Amino acid sequence: MLYVEILGNLPSLAESEVKALLELADNNFKVLGRDYLLLTSNADERAYSFLNRLGMAHEYGVLLFEAKSLEELYETAKDIEWRNLVKEPFAVDNETMLNCKYEVREIERELGAIIYHQGLKVNLKTPKTVVRVYCGNKLWVGIRKHRFSPKEFEKRKAHHRPFFKPISLHPRISRALVNLARAKNEVLDPFMGSGGILIEAGLMGLKVYGVDIRRDMVEGAKINLEHYGVKDYDLRVGDATKLKEVFPDKTFEAVVTDPPYGTSATLAGRRKDELYIKALESIYEVLDGYLSIAFPKSFDAEKIAERIGFKVLEKHYQRVHGSLERYFYVMKT
Ligand SMILES: C[S@@+](CC[C@H](N)C(=O)[O-])C[C@H]1O[C@@H](n2cnc3c(N)ncnc32)[C@H](O)[C@@H]1O
Repeated sequence: MLYVEILGNLPSLAESEVKALLELADNNFKVLGRDYLLLTSNADERAYSFLNRLGMAHEYGVLLFEAKSLEELYETAKDIEWRNLVKEPFAVDNETMLNCKYEVREIERELGAIIYHQGLKVNLKTPKTVVRVYCGNKLWVGIRKHRFSPKEFEKRKAHHRPFFKPISLHPRISRALVNLARAKNEVLDPFMGSGGILIEAGLMGLKVYGVDIRRDMVEGAKINLEHYGVKDYDLRVGDATKLKEVFPDKTFEAVVTDPPYGTSATLAGRRKDELYIKALESIYEVLDGYLSIAFPKSFDAEKIAERIGFKVLEKHYQRVHGSLERYFYVMKT
């Protein structure tokens, strides 16, 4: 059993990202339940290399047990051979979630004492093992395997890139979109801009293909990919509504993209809805797999995509600011 603690800002997107990665690891791996921001899964260590790709998560680990009261938690903890699970020194770290039903002020100290009494050393500053407790509707106890450093994502935000364009998704969201497209080997972004999505995909070890109608963007995206150490790329100047012309002999397993939302500069003089429809048709021609794509709320992508032949699997809402609300769609050919 594993747990994943997801981010709270777009929980439905975050949960779907976890499901997609578990599915990539093994079709039998599922999310079994959710207690506020804690997901539980039947997956095992074979999922680690996939979960390491997560964008919208704080951490994941091995789930040891759940309890419905503090007494039950302490009793269960006493029966566990902690020496087999914990590398010394250890620390207990509790997360009190917004829906926490229990009085957990003393839980770190109390559980720490139980483990300590089995002869294991404590170090709160630099532990080798973190025993993680989550308080929600239930109490959950696990061992942290990996914590995602917010700093790493911050370093890749648009204004830290050598070629800077403000219109770019947050790296965590870009990453989630790549994962939702179940990319195993490669990704195409036909509106790549400065390459934000491709940076994340490249860092996951995928081969990245990018298209933009503006040569300066293609050159800028190349500078950005190189800056973050992504080497396996194929970037082309071209039109996202004519992908068959840009890649005459290629079919892609995953397309992930964030088309322009409306300023005349990024739309290259086209009407927005017309551009979206043509782009969806063009993507459909070169894709044999999943598409993750963002559209402003004003565009009803579902009907149009289904008419083209896509199966729309999911949509996730995000309010970016007063004048921009959008949906992230996951579709399949
Ligand atoms: C919203 S930006 C993409 C941002 C990108 N996801 C990132 O994170 O940096 C949209 C890009 O689409 C490009 N574009 C506009 N019309 C296009 C078309 N018909 N074909 C290809 N690219 C186009 C624009 O030049 C712009 O760079």
